[in-house]
Amino acid sequence: MKLRDFGIQDGISEVIATTMSKEGMPNAAPIGIISDKKICARIYPDTHTHSNIHATKKLVANVVSDPLLFVSSALGDLDEREFYTVDELPVLRCADAWVSFECEKDKQDNTLIHLHPIKGRILRKRVQAISRGTNAIIEATIHTTRYLAMKDEKYLEWIAHYEDIVKKCGGCREKEAMKKLREIIQ
Ligand SMILES: Cc1cc2nc3c(=O)[nH]c(=O)nc-3n(C[C@H](O)[C@H](O)[C@H](O)COP(=O)(O)O)c2cc1C
Repeated sequence: MKLRDFGIQDGISEVIATTMSKEGMPNAAPIGIISDKKICARIYPDTHTHSNIHATKKLVANVVSDPLLFVSSALGDLDEREFYTVDELPVLRCADAWVSFECEKDKQDNTLIHLHPIKGRILRKRVQAISRGTNAIIEATIHTTRYLAMKDEKYLEWIAHYEDIVKKCGGCREKEAMKKLREIIQ
């Protein structure tokens, strides 16, 4: 199985990971899938994604192009209607493609998860030019999660920088996503 065929590239691909809690509650959060010689992810402890992976040993990487969904899943909970289930695993309805993985904890590093692909599906193929506006939302969302965790003011400056790019290059989805980020920060 070639991950590239499902949109997961060499280097780090930003996807929305879906996992199931041991009580059967689906969860979604953006993570980076690291594809070098091996495939892995670094998951912060104290997240639902971390505890769900430890409970079920499974994760689905959803390839999503909607910037608003990155904001909503990073900083809040998605509605249950956003998910459907494949082999008892949650998948996002808006995913262009998804790959499910068996997760193996690293023996020394608590945040490192080795990923072994199980299966994947391509649902739609999009032709899409690179958008600085979309990229800027992804960066601004990462800095917002860091600002909320660490309260370091430097992140606010970086968020403002990406906000300027969103204003200049973003479409309505990016502008809505930026508005949501601003509401969360204030
Ligand atoms: C683009 C992007 C990439 C992210 N990558 C990671 C990652 O690789 N590992 C991680 O632990 N958190 C990552 N985060 C932060 C998590 O999404 C964030 O902490 C989230 O609130 C965790 O939600 P959960 O508690 O529902 O798992 C990323 C956030 C964004 C916006």
